[in-house]
Amino acid sequence: MKNITQLLSAEHQTILKVIDAVVKECEALENGKELELEFFQKTIDFIKNYADKFHYAKEEDILFKAMLENIENLHCNPIPVMLNEHDEGREYVKGMEQGIAENNQGKIIENARGYGMLLTDHIYKEDNVLYPMAEEALTSEQKDLVNQQYQEVEQKLNAEMDVEDLKFV
Ligand SMILES: [Fe+2]
Repeated sequence: MKNITQLLSAEHQTILKVIDAVVKECEALENGKELELEFFQKTIDFIKNYADKFHYAKEEDILFKAMLENIENLHCNPIPVMLNEHDEGREYVKGMEQGIAENNQGKIIENARGYGMLLTDHIYKEDNVLYPMAEEALTSEQKDLVNQQYQEVEQKLNAEMDVEDLKFV
């Protein structure tokens, strides 16, 4: 049986690990730790390049599109909500960047926590609702194509950046 979502779920675990580290850092700051902007810069790099580019490239451009081609096999269409949540995440990243630029700890924490909560909930929905729907709805041929497209995009992005280097926890 071909699988098109295991790889994406494994990437979610990497994203959740970083979120966990970010939440711990926010707690430490609230308990008096000195603000290290570098930690949050690394977090933003990870989110932009790993979550946004490397992971979302496979979801938004490949898996979601393949699901929409099979819309008659889905009992509802969760894709617009998922895309909207990806955009909400990008807004939190902008907020974090503004917080860094302004050296504003409160703003950094607020947006980092917001991102963490949004993505934790979002990932839960993808792993438990969306991905099982995708596995059910796509034909074997479509799954082959999706896996092939994943490989192509990964090769392209691996040539542009060092993905392993972005995993800082
Ligand atoms: Fe995802």
